[in-house]
Amino acid sequence: MDRGFVVWFTGLSGAGKSTLARRLESVLRERGLKVEVLDGDIIRTNLSKGLGFSKEDRDTNIRRIGFVCKLLARNGVATIAAAISPYREIRDEVRRDIGDFVEVYVKCPIDVLTGRDVKGLYAKALKGEIPNFTGVSDPYEEPLKPEVLLETDKENEDESLAKLVRRLEELGYLEPSWAVAR
Ligand code: ADX
Repeated sequence: MDRGFVVWFTGLSGAGKSTLARRLESVLRERGLKVEVLDGDIIRTNLSKGLGFSKEDRDTNIRRIGFVCKLLARNGVATIAAAISPYREIRDEVRRDIGDFVEVYVKCPIDVLTGRDVKGLYAKALKGEIPNFTGVSDPYEEPLKPEVLLETDKENEDESLAKLVRRLEELGYLEPSWAVAR
């Protein structure tokens, strides 16, 4: 059985976590791994339905996602989580609990995000229509030593994905691509 692990994307809303998570999912599946994705936006419609965005609710959300990630990873699944996960302490708690944990900080400056504003949420948050909006009126605690740093205002999608895959190879979670290509 392949060794399971968790790739944990963290970063502000709109930075590119879900997009990169899906791109990674395809790569891992092409390489023959069993893969599952836990995306914050989707988890909040089922497993975490009813939770809001207070610190307490966010912590509960992240602990739930972390718990499911642990179950999957210990059964050999390459598990990908994509949630803002703004609090360092809870991310580190999940890391300790899981062990095989790769933290990916999807970094993008707030002015770029408010400019892009794909979901229109930043405009609302800036007008005060969404309270406790991460990066605007709620904290985001940057990872201090993420295994991977992706800067989505400077790199395109393919570059970020390539960087991430290379790092997973270096960390021994993936066979190097030259071995796969043979
Ligand atoms: S987390 O903080 O608990 O990790 P999660 O990733 O599940 O957050 O959900 C974030 C998504 O919820 C955002 O992408 C956005 O679409 C939506 N959202 C709604 N309200 C807020 C808010 N106050 N702060 C951040 N995101 C919000």
